[in-house]
Amino acid sequence: MKALTVLGARPQFIKAAPVSRVLRRSHEELILHTGQHYDDAMSDLFFRQLDIPAPDLNLGVGSGPHGAQTAAMLEGVEKVAIDRRPDVVLVYGDTNSTLAGALAAAKLHIPVAHVEAGLRSFDRRMPEEVNRVVADHLSALLLCPTQTAVANLAAEGMREGVRMVGDVMYDAFLQNLDRARTQCTVLDDLGLQRGGYDLLTVHRAENVDDPRRLGAILEGVGASRRRVVFPVHPRTRAALARDGAQVAPGVMLIDPVGYLEMLVLEDGAAKVVTDSGGVQKEAYFAGRPCITLRDRTEWTETVEEGWNVLAGTDPAKVASAMRDFNPEGERPKLFGDGHAAERVVDALSAVEMVSP
Ligand code: UD1
Ligand code: UDP
Repeated sequence: MKALTVLGARPQFIKAAPVSRVLRRSHEELILHTGQHYDDAMSDLFFRQLDIPAPDLNLGVGSGPHGAQTAAMLEGVEKVAIDRRPDVVLVYGDTNSTLAGALAAAKLHIPVAHVEAGLRSFDRRMPEEVNRVVADHLSALLLCPTQTAVANLAAEGMREGVRMVGDVMYDAFLQNLDRARTQCTVLDDLGLQRGGYDLLTVHRAENVDDPRRLGAILEGVGASRRRVVFPVHPRTRAALARDGAQVAPGVMLIDPVGYLEMLVLEDGAAKVVTDSGGVQKEAYFAGRPCITLRDRTEWTETVEEGWNVLAGTDPAKVASAMRDFNPEGERPKLFGDGHAAERVVDALSAVEMVSP
């Protein structure tokens, strides 16, 4: 089988790494990078750290408004798919690269396999929600990380081709945590001690593009009076410069870090404060309390188990959660057994039979 993997944004490199390794044992894989993320610290660094084969092709699409960015990707993916004629197109998550990959393939009658299918925040104002819903409805294989995802698809009438495989980000976490702990000096480099700081990430468009929401988050973080390390996504860096936002003295702004450094920062944090999808899960994997800077999450299980609290962007709620949210107790294995990638590849092998 020949698989065309379409990816382009930071979390997709992390998700693709374990799958690509297993896939290449018995199948051919072509990697098509859309170029959505392009800074070394947002892209190539992950290929190096996670030993992902270099992309066979890069569309170099870069940044832009949704329509222009997605259209350029769609055109590029279509050309490559016509030229290379893969048996399946593999897409990950919920970015514009996911949408473009799924749409181009579906129009060419090439089966689409969606890893991380079935997630819903039930908030169509999020671009990610639109991308997920469309990608799911175009996919022949819906590879779900959780039972909630399976149920979400059933509620939309999707039962065919649905497989519960577990979460490939949990595979990546288990495969890299020990290596990260032994190799990374990020805590020493930043003068941090385990348990002596909170980790903050903010990059969702709805939080960052609105100066009031970003200001409110930073006000809440500052009011907690806790020591915070904040790897700043380029979207957020641009917004901070645009708004001239005030950042409290206890908050250390740093450039985006590699995956291994991020695992060490999560593992060593007292608390994780984030609006990221992936970071919410990794906080759960690492057993760290998570304060989510959103009103809804697609990772509802982490909230139900008591390890994640939705604080939104209200400064008082953010500050009090940072001070007082101290969950304890069990963390059931919600995200599989660390072998989701093998199940993804098993499911893909079956697609071969239905490809046109
Ligand atoms: C995208 C995804 C989001 C995902 C995030 C992961 C969509 C709609 N959004 O958001 O779901 O959570 O990636 O990080 O697909 N920029 C750089 N260098 C880069 C990349 C981006 O400077 O390498 C800056 C540009 O100013 C750009 C902005 O960041 O305009 C936003 O980038 P974009 O890829 O459009 O969206 P993200 O916020 O990264
Ligand atoms: N991540 C990273 N360096 C950073 C910030 C995040 O390696 O500076 C990793 C993080 O550990 C997780 C993934 O990127 O695996 C999450 O991506 P992001 O928050 O950009 O997007 P989302 O998951 O919200 O789509």
